[in-house]
Amino acid sequence: MLLELARAKSILFFGGKGGVGKTTVSAATALAMAKEGRRVLLVSTDPAHNLGHLFNREIGPKPVKLATNLDGMELDPEQTVNEHLAEVSDSLRKLMAPQLAGEVDKHIELSRDAPGMQEAAIMERIAEVVEQAAKEYDLLVFDTAPSGHTARLIALPEMMSAWTDGLIQRREKAERFSAVLRNLGNDKSVGNAIFGGSDDDNPMDSRENKIRILLNRRRRRFGDLRTALGDAGRTSFVIVLAAERLPVLETIQLNGQLQRSGVKVGALIVNKRLPDGLGEFLTERRTQEEIHLATLADALPHLPRKDLTLVAHDVVGLEALERFAKTLV
Ligand SMILES: Nc1ncnc2c1ncn2[C@@H]1O[C@H](COP(=O)(O)OP(=O)(O)OP(=O)(O)O)[C@@H](O)[C@H]1O
Ligand SMILES: [Mg+2]
Repeated sequence: MLLELARAKSILFFGGKGGVGKTTVSAATALAMAKEGRRVLLVSTDPAHNLGHLFNREIGPKPVKLATNLDGMELDPEQTVNEHLAEVSDSLRKLMAPQLAGEVDKHIELSRDAPGMQEAAIMERIAEVVEQAAKEYDLLVFDTAPSGHTARLIALPEMMSAWTDGLIQRREKAERFSAVLRNLGNDKSVGNAIFGGSDDDNPMDSRENKIRILLNRRRRRFGDLRTALGDAGRTSFVIVLAAERLPVLETIQLNGQLQRSGVKVGALIVNKRLPDGLGEFLTERRTQEEIHLATLADALPHLPRKDLTLVAHDVVGLEALERFAKTLV
């Protein structure tokens, strides 16, 4: 059922609570699809980066080959935040008068730990991957960080567009304002004192243009990501969970959040289900699982569900992953 879904899509997101098996199930799905001959890129958006642990090797922010037809990469939010802030700082310095450089630095340092900064950086990277990798790969598999975080990320493209739109509008206002100042008796020094321009022949125009191009590129990228996420023919979100009370309730909630942001959940994967017939205690525990899963089936009756059994050993390394991938069918 999961593989059927994966065959039909070109972008899959795996989300869910911490430790439920997102990395394992997404990697197994990616591997199974690669074995069928599709070119697959597996991307970890989790700052904790446990893709490398699973494959027993270093995986960095650039795609590396993990198996035939399968590449993997780990997005690095820290590096992304630094690059992003350097870019903003550069633009601000060019715009502001030189004596305000200290203020720019202060603003940038405060922004580094601002809420949402890492999420925005990750979202920008996801947008980049979707834009660039779509040509080289048939399937992109995103292994995401635990659920609250993921839903916020997925809902972010709209916030990001609103943000870039706001910036663009502000730039346009500033441009009009500086044009008015420039025209006032042709006294350039007034506008330049505020916006940090010089007396050269309108260097402001080329700066303005650069910033506008940058903001427009970002807006287009987020717009494209929004379109890709909302395209149910192309993209699906898979929720991985354990058969326990809170994960079931959170799954119902996450499904609602994703639905509201226009992203379709294609499958529920109940991982680490206890095997049947293993003595009284485990049988009772399994019955308890059935009760929680009945709640799930009541709340989300139309969503296809697949249960994966708890296996005796942790899933580590390519061989173990191959064995695990065989249980996905
Ligand atoms: N069906 C299973 N049976 C036994 N162990 C499993 C199963 N699925 C996953 N595991 C093990 O559970 C642990 C957590 O799995 P995994 O890293 O895939 O979870 P995760 O949801 O990605 O966690 P995180 O939220 O920390 O990223 C790993 O040690 C993995 O090998
Ligand atoms: Mg993980």
